[in-house]
Amino acid sequence: MTPWYWLAALFLFHRSLSVFAGNTYQLSNKIVGNDFYDNFNWEAIDDPTHGRVTYVDQPTSKILNLTFTSTDTFILRTDFTTVLDPKGVGRQSVRIRSNAAYTTHVAIFSIRHMPQGCGTWPAIWTTAPNAWPNDGEIDILEGVNDQAPNLSVLHSTQGCTMPNNRTMTGTPTSTDCVTTDTSNAGCGVNFPTSFSYGPSFNSVGGGWYVMERNEKKITVWFWARNDPSVPSDIINGASSISPDGWGNPAALFPSTYCDFPSHFQQHNIIINLTLCACYESVGTKTNGLVLGGDWAGSAYGQSGCPSTCIDFVNNNPSAYTDAFFDFEYIWLYTP
Ligand SMILES: *[C@@H]1O[C@H](CO)[C@@H](O)[C@H](O)[C@H]1NC(C)=O
Ligand SMILES: *[C@@H]1O[C@H](CO)[C@@H](O)[C@H](O)[C@H]1NC(C)=O
Ligand SMILES: *[C@@H]1O[C@H](CO)[C@@H](O)[C@H](O)[C@H]1NC(C)=O
Ligand SMILES: *[C@@H]1O[C@H](CO)[C@@H](O)[C@H](O)[C@H]1NC(C)=O
Repeated sequence: MTPWYWLAALFLFHRSLSVFAGNTYQLSNKIVGNDFYDNFNWEAIDDPTHGRVTYVDQPTSKILNLTFTSTDTFILRTDFTTVLDPKGVGRQSVRIRSNAAYTTHVAIFSIRHMPQGCGTWPAIWTTAPNAWPNDGEIDILEGVNDQAPNLSVLHSTQGCTMPNNRTMTGTPTSTDCVTTDTSNAGCGVNFPTSFSYGPSFNSVGGGWYVMERNEKKITVWFWARNDPSVPSDIINGASSISPDGWGNPAALFPSTYCDFPSHFQQHNIIINLTLCACYESVGTKTNGLVLGGDWAGSAYGQSGCPSTCIDFVNNNPSAYTDAFFDFEYIWLYTP
């Protein structure tokens, strides 16, 4: 063969390799410790879900120690010392939104501990600032009152459903992502392992939640801290990653019947911790809990928690000692 053929062969071989390797992403931001203060905005807003919380700004959260950092730790918590006046404001808590917004990306959340306690409703999710639900919402993780459902969900406008033939380990709660069809429950997928949420998650030192989002699919994986199958590029902070090699995800949302670019715009990452939220109207039932409706509120009675949610939050600060997130890091990868 002449050198020209060699070059052509090499070129084709290289192309076939990169097709085989699927999507790769490059490390674009490592958020660790104090980086959280620079990369997120503290949203001292009224709780849109009408929970029994008051969100504080960044200086206040530092003074009250509701957020705390060390070299490899970011803690975000609710107040756990104040008995509340029933006629006054809710328990102080924190809601943060990333300054950066993303479309195609991979986000790796290494979480050591997530909030637990009666009426807690922690969430890690993404949405655009002002146009809900037109710009879409992706819930990477949410759950309530320490119990199931622990799930990932898409919320969209008309014309977005999920196929029945998805290769994933989780269990769908609905295939209809349209908020107005489902009383805002969206199309959820329950995680397959009890280690993915609440006290069980915390008992093993937490784990990794990972989301890949591109125009073809939105994918969520979860590995508990003690899961030997966690891919090495997730633990190592590799400069380049290839999610296609990570095995079956917990939740897969393909674009088969949902045009992602028109339903999901650039999103910020939001981390919030509310209590007894009770804004949305009654939705579908899953695992005996009402989803997307009066959630922490109506789920409360079925969760084995005492009293009513609001009274309990008002009167029992010490029940919120463990109502905190502990993040080891968030790593972001872009194409
Ligand atoms: C918290 O996150 C959930 C997403 O799971 C969202 O529906 C809810 O509105 C958020 N609540 C607050 C108070 O921000
Ligand atoms: C603030 O919170 C951190 C993390 O929970 C804790 O280690 C530290 O002792 C707290 N500081 C004060 C002054 O309470
Ligand atoms: C998470 O959801 C799964 C599937 O519904 C359930 O089996 C498991 O018990 C839940 N985990 C927790 C901690 O509630
Ligand atoms: C699922 O079904 C759709 C529609 O028939 C098809 O386009 C898609 O390739 C199927 N996906 C899998 C993973 O089988």
